[in-house]
Amino acid sequence: MQDSVYTNCSVATMVQGDKPYGLVSDATFVVQNSQIAWLGRASDLPAHFSALKTEDLAGRLVTPSLIDCHTHLVFGGTRANEFEARLTGVSYQEIAKRGGGIVSTVKATRCASDETLLTQALKRVDSLIRQGVAVIEVKSGYGLTIEDELRMLRVARRIAEMRPIKVTTTWLAAHALPAEYKERVDDYIEEVVIAGMKLGAAEGLIDAVDGFCEEFAFSATQMEVVFKAAKALGLPIKLHAEQLSDQKGALLCARYNGLSADHLEYLADTDVAEFSGSGAVAVLLPGAFYTLKETQLPPIQNLREHKVDIAIATDCNPGSSPISSILTIMNMACIEFSMTPEEALAGVTRNAAKALNLSDQYGVIKQGRQCDLVVWDLEHPAELSYWVGGSPMFKRLAKEQTS
Ligand code: NIG
Ligand code: FE
Repeated sequence: MQDSVYTNCSVATMVQGDKPYGLVSDATFVVQNSQIAWLGRASDLPAHFSALKTEDLAGRLVTPSLIDCHTHLVFGGTRANEFEARLTGVSYQEIAKRGGGIVSTVKATRCASDETLLTQALKRVDSLIRQGVAVIEVKSGYGLTIEDELRMLRVARRIAEMRPIKVTTTWLAAHALPAEYKERVDDYIEEVVIAGMKLGAAEGLIDAVDGFCEEFAFSATQMEVVFKAAKALGLPIKLHAEQLSDQKGALLCARYNGLSADHLEYLADTDVAEFSGSGAVAVLLPGAFYTLKETQLPPIQNLREHKVDIAIATDCNPGSSPISSILTIMNMACIEFSMTPEEALAGVTRNAAKALNLSDQYGVIKQGRQCDLVVWDLEHPAELSYWVGGSPMFKRLAKEQTS
């Protein structure tokens, strides 16, 4: 990107401080060598920058590029049939117990070629990119054999070669028990989850390790075995915790210094203090709450009072959240979870970066950082959560792009 001075904009830096959104109004910023060389009020611009090319942003809003820190967007097939069944009153858990749910996506994923998985995933990625997303996390979890799990992560990594987006990959072999391991959970954990994790780590394919801690998936005791193996390999952990019932997964995650515990609808109020001490991010997933017509709210006020950093994400997956719109998720977070638009934006910038261990590179706009930001055809940052539908992105400014 060309060195330039950008004038006449409002910058929601998302730097934590006194000002809501870290907002700088009547702002000018300078990009040099793809970094933010200066940011401030137009009237304070140092004279030596005035030789650079100038672009008038016509009063537009600027934010950090967005981050979707929890997705399962590489998968085969759809589960529209289960959507129909749920609308007639069959629950998500019941569908899983009948052999549908995650394992039906496993069948479709195992059958799909790498090219098919990639082509389908790119459609979802493009939808996120159109809404200003520059970083996505992608989980495995629909292969459930070593080779199919690794294959999912290799496909995920290829996304970053084909699109201007950073991809982090998460090993989620502990997502469901495949039929071939029925009644043999411990064997599955040793032979697939941990053995595959070692291979994936050796290949440099794994940025974090995750699991589904739930009554019909893996218990906290079983997840602890996985976490111990992850720690021995130096891999950070995170967990699908307390989505449908209280399994004390968030506390386990906290004890293992997890990056994040995700979902958390059934996190007990009495466990929030202990969870908060760990510094893990609470990743809330309003799309799954919405799709499953959940009524149990995560303990949001309590998380706030304990100063837990809250991120939000699409959870893009074919079962519980067939959603590839990060802006819709921001709106849902406000409407369903009573989060403020400022919390929603922090949830897809600063706090999402923390959930992916990327706080040093992404999530806020400040001098000295690499430039990766979005210019929106909007005036105020609350509008990002307010409008539903439409494409308010004007353009992204980042190193990968030529503009
Ligand atoms: O985050 N909870 C587990 N995993 C996904 C659902 C996956 C699926 O239903 O295919 C989730 O909601
Ligand atoms: Fe998920």
